[in-house]
Amino acid sequence: MPTITPTKPIPLRICIAGATGYLGRHLVREAHKRSHQVTALVRAASKARFPDGVTIVQGEATQPETLAPLQAALAGTDVMISALGLTRQKDKLRYKDVDFQANMNLLDLAQAAGVPRFAYVHALVRGKPKSDLLAAKSQFVQALRAAQIESHIFRPGGYFVDMEAVLDMARSGRIWAVGDGSVRLNPIEGADLAQTILDALERGENDLEIGGPEVLSLDEIGALAFAALGQPVRITHLPRGLAVALLALLKPLTPRHIWGPFEFFLAASAQDAIGPAYGAKTLGAHFKALAAKPEAK
Ligand SMILES: NC(=O)c1ccc[n+]([C@@H]2O[C@H](COP(=O)([O-])OP(=O)(O)OC[C@H]3O[C@@H](n4cnc5c(N)ncnc54)[C@H](OP(=O)(O)O)[C@@H]3O)[C@@H](O)[C@H]2O)c1
Repeated sequence: MPTITPTKPIPLRICIAGATGYLGRHLVREAHKRSHQVTALVRAASKARFPDGVTIVQGEATQPETLAPLQAALAGTDVMISALGLTRQKDKLRYKDVDFQANMNLLDLAQAAGVPRFAYVHALVRGKPKSDLLAAKSQFVQALRAAQIESHIFRPGGYFVDMEAVLDMARSGRIWAVGDGSVRLNPIEGADLAQTILDALERGENDLEIGGPEVLSLDEIGALAFAALGQPVRITHLPRGLAVALLALLKPLTPRHIWGPFEFFLAASAQDAIGPAYGAKTLGAHFKALAAKPEAK
């Protein structure tokens, strides 16, 4: 496991886009805890629940004409961090509208305002992107790298929040897994990831793959979910070819929020996705906490 040298917090002016998401909220909280001056870009004021002292700016990153308040707020900003992207949202937008274009709009604005650094939360991608989501994110990374701004690319593997779908399946008594269940990953918890990203930013790291503390196969993740619920393990493996055929049917017939995560999952579960280990929180403990408080999800 790589060691993170404890860094002396430098008070920075940080603007966080995607601040209302799973990772964004952890980033806002962690940056604020470290005494950085934080501005959070949100699109819905109702979701802007942050610690006192965080400046909230409203705007739609997909619609540049709504971003004048952000432009004004960016003066003097040291770094913009974007954790903005389509995951579970039901918007009728494509990945290239959000993961690529909305981030381009933010990058343009940051450059126009003279912000010297832009940090982007990408994903752990090995080889050519095999989903529309990863293709849009990779396209943005290329543009960011080519831009006249210091770039920081963070490449995390799976998040605990996405592993919760496995616990939900286990609650129904059976987990349906694609493939033989042997593909391995090391997911990371949101607060651990936010700490890793801010540590890396504070020490000026430009490109970092990030995994969690434990490497687990898909079957082991399923077994942890059943163990947390105190139920016997019931995992049914579906042949990958069947899942690929199902995706081909779903893609033209269902909205993006149905086929998109399925396509991303199929791509992500095709091969091991293991990043250098950071953080301390374990998935088993996370599942147990959720199983004890089912209403907390
Ligand atoms: N989850 C994973 O396993 C994983 C793994 C690797 C990388 N990533 C990447 O990490 C980033 C953060 O993931 P997350 O799990 O924190 O996602 P999340 O909870 O869905 O948060 C995404 C953020 O993007 C904003 N957003 C989405 N669509 C938007 C739109 N059309 N216009 C403006 N804002 C929009 C959301 O705003 P609202 O709150 O208003 O919807 C939210 O603030 C994403 O880019 C994701 O691709 C995720």
